[in-house]
Amino acid sequence: MFWTSLALIAVVISCVGDTLLWVAVHAALFLYHLFINPLRHFPGPKCDALSQLIGSYHLVKGDSCKYIAKLHEQYGDAVRTASNELSFTTPTAWQEIYGVKTDWDDVYEKNPILYVLGPQPVSNIFFCPGREHARIRKHIMPAFSGRALHEQESLMRRTLDQLIDALRNRSGKANFPNQDGVVNMAAWSVFQVTDVLTLLALGQSWDTLKTGEYPGFITDLYGTLKDSTKVRAAHRLKPYHLIIKRFVSNDFGTAFLEYFTQAQSAVTNRRAEKASDKKDFIQYVAPGLTDEEMFENLNMLVVAGLDSTAAILSAAIFYITQNPDSYDKLVHEIQSTFKSDEEITIASVSGLRYLKAVIDETMRLHPSVPVGLPRLVPKGGRFIDGYWVPEGTWVSVAQYSAYRSPKYFAKPHQFIPERWTDTTTYATDNHFVFRPFSTGARGCIGKTFAYANIRMALALLLWNFDLKAQPGNIDPDSLKEYGLWEHHPVFVQVKERV
Ligand code: HEM
Repeated sequence: MFWTSLALIAVVISCVGDTLLWVAVHAALFLYHLFINPLRHFPGPKCDALSQLIGSYHLVKGDSCKYIAKLHEQYGDAVRTASNELSFTTPTAWQEIYGVKTDWDDVYEKNPILYVLGPQPVSNIFFCPGREHARIRKHIMPAFSGRALHEQESLMRRTLDQLIDALRNRSGKANFPNQDGVVNMAAWSVFQVTDVLTLLALGQSWDTLKTGEYPGFITDLYGTLKDSTKVRAAHRLKPYHLIIKRFVSNDFGTAFLEYFTQAQSAVTNRRAEKASDKKDFIQYVAPGLTDEEMFENLNMLVVAGLDSTAAILSAAIFYITQNPDSYDKLVHEIQSTFKSDEEITIASVSGLRYLKAVIDETMRLHPSVPVGLPRLVPKGGRFIDGYWVPEGTWVSVAQYSAYRSPKYFAKPHQFIPERWTDTTTYATDNHFVFRPFSTGARGCIGKTFAYANIRMALALLLWNFDLKAQPGNIDPDSLKEYGLWEHHPVFVQVKERV
């Protein structure tokens, strides 16, 4: 009895001791971050500056971009959002953090703590750092040249014609239009982009435009992206991530794993076709990558391009159908430019100014990647916007905050495509802060392709159909975001033009 009591007292004393030690260590850390940390002079809420806790909370809650926008509204263009992290909203910060550098030592690398989709045994254009990234990108670049895009046009067009045909079907089966022509265009945007990307990157279309059904791998992919936000939030709280990660799944679902196997064999079959006249991405990738690197990076093109492009296409459909003046102007531009739908080509749609303005205005209000893309300040520290920032600090430009700021855009919360065409009325708008595809050596490789696909899709849709908004669609701005936006249907009625 005596010994048991003694052991119990020892345990209690040890627990109290550990707790006190834990409290003391954290109190010392908080005091350090408030009064000694070199970032202490940056504006921002003091409680956010103590740790990474508040930022992580908003990541998991799905409102990170809006929370950061509020901080910028209150504190200005440079905000300390966490103990070791700064957020900026200026064109000069875009250039300094992401712009092309002539010296490797000046490169702001991707922050490895936040890119944690698992170990990367094979070099992947999206994740790998420095010179290795430059090597992979050099091989992939030819697939995105002007010539390649021109030659890919017939394959892109095939999927767009399938989309138009599918919207004529009134069976109501799967996601096809019902008897009244009412259809969820968010789903069909995903289907068209899935089919064109799998056709070009893997050599085989996933044929979702034929079935009208979401393939399981897409649902899995969205789930994994959401879970990876939790994992990234956990990693911000090192060393507690070791405990938190036990409760968060970061595994790919079975449908995604099945897709992965199918995609691997599709690429193998496609590569076995010698001297193919298919002008897809595979045909253009420069020789020199290993088989594993080839597949990893072709697959990455599907993963990186799918939701980013489909989200803009469906958001653009939402905005134009909610804004009758913009809709009429866009329809007029398309109908007055073309005499037949054969005239609608990548080259001809690139001359439609109002169409480009609609797409840019959509990306301003609803950027595919609304959060800042986190980078590390290089060795020795650097000046950003006149502030000295020590090496290793986490920095980014917050797209959503910049695009919704009255400092950069008049009436920032309104859908006004004219701001991109009428630079006299909107002379105070600052287009240099608008970088929805990021910029520099790690800027989006698929930018021209994405613009071409979205332009062609909108032009063909409005050439063939009148689109009418249906009640119940919600503004994409009210969606949550987990790195990318959550999905939500956009119901419209499609009526054949007579
Ligand atoms: C509207 C559509 C799109 C938007 C807004 C968009 C946006 C972006 C952004 C912001 C980045 C930089 C990410 C970072 O630094 O962490 C990026 C990178 C990338 N995007 Fe896109 N993207 C779009 C479409 C596409 C398409 C269609 C493809 C491929 C077919 C693609 C492939 C990639 C790849 C491979 C990277 C990584 C580039 C590198 O690190 O060198 N994207 N994209």
